[in-house]
Amino acid sequence: MTTTERPVRRDFAQRLRAETRAEHGRAHAQPYVRALLAGQLGAEDFAMLLAQHYFAYAVLEAAAEHMRSDLVAGPFVSDRLRRLPALEADLQHYFGRGWRRKVAPSAATEEYLARMREICFDWPGGFVAHHYTRYLADLSGGQAIRAIMGRSMDRSDGAGFAFLTFEQIPNGPRFKDAYRTLLDTVGWSAAEEDRIVAEVKRAYAHNTRVLAELSYLLIPRQR
Ligand code: HEM
Repeated sequence: MTTTERPVRRDFAQRLRAETRAEHGRAHAQPYVRALLAGQLGAEDFAMLLAQHYFAYAVLEAAAEHMRSDLVAGPFVSDRLRRLPALEADLQHYFGRGWRRKVAPSAATEEYLARMREICFDWPGGFVAHHYTRYLADLSGGQAIRAIMGRSMDRSDGAGFAFLTFEQIPNGPRFKDAYRTLLDTVGWSAAEEDRIVAEVKRAYAHNTRVLAELSYLLIPRQR
């Protein structure tokens, strides 16, 4: 071991969560999210978020295919997580058969996509940073959103909620625990872990900007 090397941590998942708590709080504080959690948003508002997610997942899941056989990133790739087909079904539900002509990435989403394209196909740790930020969000806050939107839209048949329904992951907490164990046991160097924490913060910032833009779109209708 050289003098610049430090021992590999075994509590990386915990560190990641602790060091990005402020960023999580900022995402949460966006008016769009607050209105959503208060049960004040309708189907049209929810569909706007799904449309932005569609573009993000198209890039993230293309990167997942690319990284599938990578020694470091590959173990994080799971078909059980795949969201793109679910997003397509939801968008068809909300916008109708011609949905592809009706949705477009916002300026904030374009920036998010550019960052993922820049790093997620070449840097395994960077891919994991973006993968973690989105899928753990969907398996955590996403489930709260599903319950709230399900109530306010009165949908008991699940139509329009495919994105937030992980049919192949019946036990979300157990899946997240296994994911955190994977984060802890990859054996990244301390320097690589620092880079990944920084990239997760960046992924949060992109998500927050997307939510801020959606918040802005809500304002005229709430006046
Ligand atoms: C919509 C409102 C949100 C709610 C209610 C919410 C709620 C939560 C909760 C309760 C947890 C802890 C879950 C657990 O310990 O198993 C969590 C974790 C997480 N959330 Fe959120 N969240 C929201 C929005 C977001 C957003 C916008 C992002 C970023 C894209 C995000 C990313 C994450 C991540 C990455 C974790 C995992 C943290 C970890 O354990 O390492 N969340 N969220």
